[in-house]
Amino acid sequence: MKKGITVSHRPQWKTHIGFLLAAIGSAIGLGNIWRFPYLCYKNGGGAFLIPYFLALVVVGIPFMIIEIGLGHKMRGSAPASYARVSTRWEWLGWWQVIFVMFGIQLYYTVVIAWCFYYFLLSFGLSWGADPNNFFFNDFLMISKAPFELGNIRSPILISLAIVWFLNWLIVFRGVEKGLERANKIFMPLLFLLILVLVGWSISLPGSSEGIGVYLKPDFEKLKDIRVWIDAVSQIFFTLSIAFGILITYASYLPKKSQIVKDSVTISVANCSFSLIAGLGVFSVLGYMAHKLSLPIDKVVSKSIGLAFVVFPKAIGMLPAFSQLFGVLFFSCLVIAGLSSSVSILEAFTSSIIDKFHYSRKTVVSVLAVAGFFGSTIFTTQGGLFWLDIVDHFLTQYGLVLGGILECILIGWIYKAYVLREHINSVCQLRLLSWWDYAVKVVIPVTLAVVLVNGFVKEITTPYEGYPWLALILIGRDWVIFTLFFAIIVAARPWKEYQ
Ligand code: PHE
Repeated sequence: MKKGITVSHRPQWKTHIGFLLAAIGSAIGLGNIWRFPYLCYKNGGGAFLIPYFLALVVVGIPFMIIEIGLGHKMRGSAPASYARVSTRWEWLGWWQVIFVMFGIQLYYTVVIAWCFYYFLLSFGLSWGADPNNFFFNDFLMISKAPFELGNIRSPILISLAIVWFLNWLIVFRGVEKGLERANKIFMPLLFLLILVLVGWSISLPGSSEGIGVYLKPDFEKLKDIRVWIDAVSQIFFTLSIAFGILITYASYLPKKSQIVKDSVTISVANCSFSLIAGLGVFSVLGYMAHKLSLPIDKVVSKSIGLAFVVFPKAIGMLPAFSQLFGVLFFSCLVIAGLSSSVSILEAFTSSIIDKFHYSRKTVVSVLAVAGFFGSTIFTTQGGLFWLDIVDHFLTQYGLVLGGILECILIGWIYKAYVLREHINSVCQLRLLSWWDYAVKVVIPVTLAVVLVNGFVKEITTPYEGYPWLALILIGRDWVIFTLFFAIIVAARPWKEYQ
């Protein structure tokens, strides 16, 4: 262990299931409900499941084993764990936790705030007969361009304060009393709600056509490299890997742990959830197409459009108990989102505590206030554009580049077999040497293909037709600033214990 990098007494999960539920809670998020079903539909339906499951087995699970194994071995957050491998790499850990906390988290909490507001609206179906107009013009009051920020939208700001308060409360109470307890309530509740919703949706007329469109395989699509790239990116985002989050969660595990088995359980639970949620989403779309006598491709929409325009519309058309359906649907989104956002806050909090030894209560409180204020940019009338651009750049570049570097650090510098031997010394299930190969070659090369492809597309066509200046000043600079701060924080000395 490197000199100077000392960490105080570490909290621990009280129960093994508590850890599993918290990790599954981090993985299952908004992306499972609105991103996966759409990706599947767009990329060849049932045929997309081939690249998706290949990506899960070849890069997803092996990567999760790196993170859980490393956190368990080093007993520290991402920066502490990397610094223990090589002090020269500490910045990478900071970069990951900074871009996820001061990037993804800032807009992710705003989207949870929208969901919370829509949860309230569901009681009276108050989005009215034209949910599209309601969402963009009445609710977001969207401006025309990214730099036309306009005003802060007070309904969003108030919901955002509630979301940050809940984040603060859960992380403030610590690992066992906060995260573990919350997830022990959130996750069973989420599973129950989703089962009710999916059961209900499947019973609607037209649902089978919807499911048919969702899963009908189009193998031709598999010739397109974009489909494979989408599968890999979705696996990283959905499993919450390469963000440093699972390293932190695993650092609270007891000595005897089932690292490989847990990684498989978390990944399989997450991906099954996505598949099941997709059944519900497409059943509702099938119902809507049936009611309007339209083909499904006329009603389908991606992410934000799906949750805040298409679903409200479909909910309004349900034959009975529409309000209840709305309340259940938006509670699912809020719960799935919250259990992910607390994992981000925890990963950053733990990194600060490890290095500077401040008290958890102080760190969480300062971060929650800073996070709330940071998020306000996304509550303005131009907020949706910012959200879209920041999300694109951070997941496309921060996440993928961070993932490649993490593999180089663990595979080549620390050496994959050293970590594998540690994992095998505590686990019943043996990790074989193919894993070293995955860490050293397969995952970084796959991610490099994703990165280069994205980059070529980036410089040839502006993302979603945004002005270049907005993409550079908001997207690119957000990536650069987070990197810059990471290097500064990494350069500060580690506080020693007296
Ligand atoms: N996995 C989450 C989802 O699918 C997203 C997430 C990203 C959560 C980063 C935590 C950290 O929505």
